[in-house]
Amino acid sequence: MKIQHNISLKNYNTFGIDAIASRFTSVNSIAKLIDILTTEQNIFILGGGSNLLLTNDLAPLTLHIDLKGIDIVDETDNDIFIKVQAGENWHEFVLWCIEHDFGGLENLSLIPGNVGASPIQNIGAYGVEMKDCFHKLNTIEIATQKSHVFTKDECNFGYRNSVFKNELKGKYIITSVIFKLTKKNHKLNASYGAIQTELEKRGINSPTIKDISDVVIDIRNSKLPNPKEIGNSGSFFKNPVISTDKFQELKEKHQTIPSYKISEAEVKIPAGWLIEQCGFKGKRFGDAGVHEKQALVLVNYGNATGQEFYTLAVLIQQKVSEIFGIELAIEVNVV
Ligand code: EPU
Repeated sequence: MKIQHNISLKNYNTFGIDAIASRFTSVNSIAKLIDILTTEQNIFILGGGSNLLLTNDLAPLTLHIDLKGIDIVDETDNDIFIKVQAGENWHEFVLWCIEHDFGGLENLSLIPGNVGASPIQNIGAYGVEMKDCFHKLNTIEIATQKSHVFTKDECNFGYRNSVFKNELKGKYIITSVIFKLTKKNHKLNASYGAIQTELEKRGINSPTIKDISDVVIDIRNSKLPNPKEIGNSGSFFKNPVISTDKFQELKEKHQTIPSYKISEAEVKIPAGWLIEQCGFKGKRFGDAGVHEKQALVLVNYGNATGQEFYTLAVLIQQKVSEIFGIELAIEVNVV
């Protein structure tokens, strides 16, 4: 096992934060992974770094998961089961699916990060969540170095949430994920407003999965900053869920407040709208800023530190709480 010392993590997190890992190593096999877990007690797991805010240098051994491979493991008449290693890039995997005409993940095109991280926060966009195509996943338990399979139920997926963000946080390393996709009779999800509008504009009446993927890529490019050009971590906060009663109260004061019904008792409010109303959209505090087209995304104009982003996040939380009485929860993993 080759351990490197004092490595900058700037290229390992999509925010582009220049935190230092005092010790760093990469693993590309399960055997190497188990070898490290048996000798090292204190480790920090690094995947694609796309949902991560580094507010400090890292003292533990930083373990970069670089397991690669995409394999078809089973199929039925209609479905295909694909095992994807944790270190595969999410978007490249989605493009591979489109190329092979395997349906289900097209709405999740262009989401940054690696496959291994996708179940942790149950990534989602444009009416689809990863859990909709999830079959099971393989892990290694850190404490025992034993392999353990998690079924969909055991993962306890929720909105940007799973068991791996809660009671099992930091206990298992996801090594591969098995997806169940369609080979034919694809169930397209084109109901999201922006997708419909874009398909109509292009004169597409019966879209293919490739059409949906192309449209999603264009929508994302038009409002979300590309982490390769400007550091960011996608949505920084979750969209808050509030009671219908509280929503009615707010609507009297703020007539234009948007909402999505969740149940009779609850509605979801777009955090981007709340943040914009508080005057933060497009604002810059040193090199840390709020994106000009989507207020839910914080962006790095150069050399912002994790601490600066955290300070800005707290300022946003305070203002939203003061004006709307809503507590915004941070979606990214703050370390
Ligand atoms: N809005 C504003 N101002 C803004 C941003 C948004 O008023 O600056 C309002 C508008 O009313 C807009 C609504 O918010 O219609 C919803 O905005 P958008 O469609 O951009 O979606 P979102 O709720 O802000 C969520 C996900 C995104 C995902 C999009 C599309 C979360 C935390 N974020 O954002 O996911 O791409 O829907 O499905 O649920 C991510 O998780 O990193 C991410 C980018």
